[in-house]
Amino acid sequence: MDIKNIDEAFGFATRSVHAGNEIDKDTGAIRRPITMANSYSLPYDPSDLNWSGAGDSLYTRNGGSNQRYLQDKLRSLHETEDCVTLASGVAALAGIFFAFLKSGDHVIVSDSTYVAVYRLLRELLPAKYNVESDFVDSADLEAVKAAVKPNTRLIHIETPANPTLKVSDIRSIADIAHENGALLSVDNTFASPFNQQPGKLGADITVESLTKYINGHGDAMGGAALGPKKLIDKIRAEAMVNLGGVISPFNAWLIMRGAVTLPLRMRQHNDSAMAIARFLSERPSVRFVAYPGLENHRGHSIAKKQTCRGFGGVLAFGLNAGHDDHNRFVSHLRVITSAVSLGHDESLIVFLGENDERQYLYPKEFHDGFFRLSVGLEDAADLINDMNQALAAANIL
Ligand SMILES: Cc1ncc(COP(=O)(O)O)c(C=O)c1O
Repeated sequence: MDIKNIDEAFGFATRSVHAGNEIDKDTGAIRRPITMANSYSLPYDPSDLNWSGAGDSLYTRNGGSNQRYLQDKLRSLHETEDCVTLASGVAALAGIFFAFLKSGDHVIVSDSTYVAVYRLLRELLPAKYNVESDFVDSADLEAVKAAVKPNTRLIHIETPANPTLKVSDIRSIADIAHENGALLSVDNTFASPFNQQPGKLGADITVESLTKYINGHGDAMGGAALGPKKLIDKIRAEAMVNLGGVISPFNAWLIMRGAVTLPLRMRQHNDSAMAIARFLSERPSVRFVAYPGLENHRGHSIAKKQTCRGFGGVLAFGLNAGHDDHNRFVSHLRVITSAVSLGHDESLIVFLGENDERQYLYPKEFHDGFFRLSVGLEDAADLINDMNQALAAANIL
């Protein structure tokens, strides 16, 4: 297939395979090549060039071909006008905050977010640049409304959120933001575009850590911000070129390759996580399970409304057990790996103990230590058996 701008007339799987790819004009290869070049040849008279401009043929930090191909694919999957790819999810988040917040501005942040968002908006930007922030329960629309101030410029949420799986209503929060002259950015990493497209629900900017589901193989880091061209251009010009968080051509190429199978992988992640959430819910030794697909989850009805194909592959759970029992349980796992990150092909578990500095922001059941489990692509039966045997070996019955 050689379609330059594959559009929404095609299904999600077709776009996952073809968007951003074209026949290479030089070689006839049906895969576009990796261009490992830092610099591009200049025109005869370069004196009018903007050295800080975000263009395609100057210097890779101003924009390179592999990042452009990946942007085309992601833009197509999210059905947004534009996309900028960066070195990591955090580079994308920091780029958004840098581009849209200035000294004296106020930002409302979901009380459950990735730790770097907490660090940036709770400590670094307030202390260094006088940005004001309030962390609120974004599942509670009245709390979001009540937090708005005349200087609120941005509302930033994650849904489902890391690590509590809190679900926030994107459309309603977009309305609150827009009624008050603010932007809404939504970190969509736990859902991926297969499960949720915040831009279609009114979000101004969607963020993805490409490191997770979109790459899917645990071997490359990247991030993306997606939305209307006028917003994305600002991130590209201010943050990519001048903060320097550019994605490497090789990582862009790896992520592009990983993204081809996103729909197949997400279907499996969704199904297996649902099966495991149900299995854990029935174990007497399991204190609680947080998974938006479960009917008893606080955000289930919102999740059902706004997640189009499933509830994702990440869940959190707690055990009726002491601190070290949690570590012993993990030490007996044979299939599931104890490591951070999520959205990889292999299942990953992390024990978040009682000392997490952000626990005061989490619901009570998270205060005694809990696990975040990223359900991988192994057979669900093997994952369930693995947890069963590890619980038995650790004497947690
Ligand atoms: C929801 C979410 N957003 C952003 C990030 C940061 O992404 P990266 O590690 O690619 O910088 C993570 C990482 O775990 C995450 O879980």
